[in-house]
Amino acid sequence: MIQLKHLTKIYPSKNGDTVALNDIDLTIPDGSIFGIIGLSGAGKSTLVRCVNLLERPTSGSVVIDGEDVTLAKQKRLNLLRKNIGMIFQNFNLLEQRTVAQNVRFPLDIAPVKRKNSTENTVKFRAPKQEREQRVKELLELVELSDKANAYPSQLSGGQKQRVAIARALASGPKYLLCDEATSALDPTTTQSILALLKSINEKLGVTVIVITHEMKVVESICTDVAVISNSRIAETGSVREVFSKPRSEIAKELIIPDLIRTINSEGGKKLRLIFAGEETDAPVISGLALECNVKANILYADTKNIDGKPFGHMVIAVSEEDGQLEKAKQYLSKHNVQFEEEL
Ligand SMILES: Nc1ncnc2c1ncn2[C@@H]1O[C@H](COP(=O)(O)OP(=O)(O)O)[C@@H](O)[C@H]1O
Ligand SMILES: [Mg+2]
Repeated sequence: MIQLKHLTKIYPSKNGDTVALNDIDLTIPDGSIFGIIGLSGAGKSTLVRCVNLLERPTSGSVVIDGEDVTLAKQKRLNLLRKNIGMIFQNFNLLEQRTVAQNVRFPLDIAPVKRKNSTENTVKFRAPKQEREQRVKELLELVELSDKANAYPSQLSGGQKQRVAIARALASGPKYLLCDEATSALDPTTTQSILALLKSINEKLGVTVIVITHEMKVVESICTDVAVISNSRIAETGSVREVFSKPRSEIAKELIIPDLIRTINSEGGKKLRLIFAGEETDAPVISGLALECNVKANILYADTKNIDGKPFGHMVIAVSEEDGQLEKAKQYLSKHNVQFEEEL
């Protein structure tokens, strides 16, 4: 489990300090695919870079499996980092090395275990044959066995990211940090990389932390999400909770399409009805008409999959005359339909 406690990061500069993270408290449970979303400049990259201490927090702590890693000495830190893989938007491959050499690189530079060492939390350098066997398995995992001897320049973006994923997994990490890992890829390739990350999470039990500004990425694979805005956590919860009923202004802005928020509802009040898998035992629109004599005007409707389950929402306009709005709200509550008025 990764816990960030009162994490603050300030980048000092002559022209004034930048507070990139402001008193962040966040828990990332083991086994989750945890999304961190926010606008550009919100502090997302700084946050993940603090997790593996590529960036030193100004104050607060990063606790990984109970150990405050901000207190770790360099040697210990090098070992701890083997437990955290990372991939980036621009892949960061070694251009002069083949695919297989790129994947093998972290294994080649792993520390040699001293005879009397009692360290047992991380992997030490294995004999060459074992390293090569491991590379073979990793390339199979990312479906690139046939590219072992190719150079990065000969690969597509999606293939490069697969190499980066294999390399990040080489030392058998428990955590994988992905900073905008699909932002440079087309939608189809994005989906294939996301499917790979999901299978790594499921098959290998790796906890995946996904930094993104793309809501679709979170919808398709994440189990949990934190929304970060102006260096602070604005909101956090399961993806289904946050995506069906965002509470903070920034989450609403990111998650509920502009279209919905700006639809003109002349002659009525807008209600957003949410169908997030609960039993709804009534055909809502006809029920409103027949049982309550309320005429609801459908302004928008959409269904999609969130975290593998169907999710839908519908915006209707209801007149406030003759108590229609009140009747509609009572009807919806009675039939367990989630709704909200302020969009
Ligand atoms: N190395 C750095 N030095 C100075 N300021 C930085 C540095 N890295 C990021 N920042 C600033 O910190 C803020 C958060 O940046 P970042 O974490 O990259 O956000 P995001 O990844 O959400 O776009 C921004 O204002 C950015 O300009
Ligand atoms: Mg960033």
